[in-house]
Amino acid sequence: MSTILVTGGAGFVGSHFARAAREAGLEVVILDDLSGGAEPPANTRFVRGDIGDAELVARLVREYRFDAVAHFAGKIAVGESVEKPDLYFDHNVTRTLTLLAATRDVPKILFSSSAAVYGIPTSTPIDETAPLRPVNPYGQTKLEVERALERMGAADGRKWCALRYFNAAGAHPDGSLGEHHHPETHLIPLVIDAAHGRRGPLTIFGDDYPTPDGTCIRDYVHVCDLADAHLAALTALEQASVGAINLGSASGFSVREVLDEAANVMGRPVPHIVGGRREGDPPVLVASNARARAALGFQPLRSDLPSIIADAVHARIR
Ligand code: UFG
Repeated sequence: MSTILVTGGAGFVGSHFARAAREAGLEVVILDDLSGGAEPPANTRFVRGDIGDAELVARLVREYRFDAVAHFAGKIAVGESVEKPDLYFDHNVTRTLTLLAATRDVPKILFSSSAAVYGIPTSTPIDETAPLRPVNPYGQTKLEVERALERMGAADGRKWCALRYFNAAGAHPDGSLGEHHHPETHLIPLVIDAAHGRRGPLTIFGDDYPTPDGTCIRDYVHVCDLADAHLAALTALEQASVGAINLGSASGFSVREVLDEAANVMGRPVPHIVGGRREGDPPVLVASNARARAALGFQPLRSDLPSIIADAVHARIR
């Protein structure tokens, strides 16, 4: 049986992948420092620790002889990355390079990259050949690691795939796994909380963008579809490196459309106000997922907005 190291496996996307991997019959070892607010994962081997701890990672590699590393751990808030770029370069680049060196003998690596590598796209939908010009430190850290993987893969033959997520959202439909960032910065959980009076009204970050209703357009992709795509990528890596691949639904919704759909699904209004723009936010990010479909057989099964919101509500409101 293959054993895989899942860094950040207690986090949002990582925990859904770890569950899917176990269900697919893989042995999973999670390495997570729980710094993003995640709970220790249940029913799986879990090591609390830092991806930048070379000795710890080397010990795990010797002990488990991993077939693959799925590297989800990282800092994820675009706004915070603009304020604290040093923190983002430290966690997302420096510590990742340590992890890559310490796992040099592991033959396959999956990396959580991001649509943020594209910056402000010149055309939409975005395919993988689009210019890579991140407009915030977060996106730049993801791009740096992609480039390191490309060079290292060419030098030592390790097979790699960088999965460029658009807006990961939703939750496992059974409600047992969800999105629990501390602090939470993502739109859909904040919308749910605002509608249930768990915090004040949602602030829409700008309604003067060059989009039909003036609010930013994003491509929301269900976290379970992301998890399945990672499993498909692991299989594809048996043959050869896959390189960088977009994971998105290929449809875009504005912030206002998300609020309206959420109000529909929840049967209650979403109190909101309009504020200024958040620095580092591109107006429109929508994926072409043609490469994911062709190379991974990617089929977004739950990435329609009503399913994403319904699953997110089910996991969040108990
Ligand atoms: N937004 C608001 N109010 C809020 C929170 C968000 O208006 O309180 C808006 C944002 O301005 C943006 C949209 O809702 O237009 C989505 O924002 P999120 O913070 O949920 O997600 P981002 O688009 O900023 O970023 C997410 C991931 C990144 C990834 C990016 C790629 O967090 O890791 O998607 O599309 F890079």
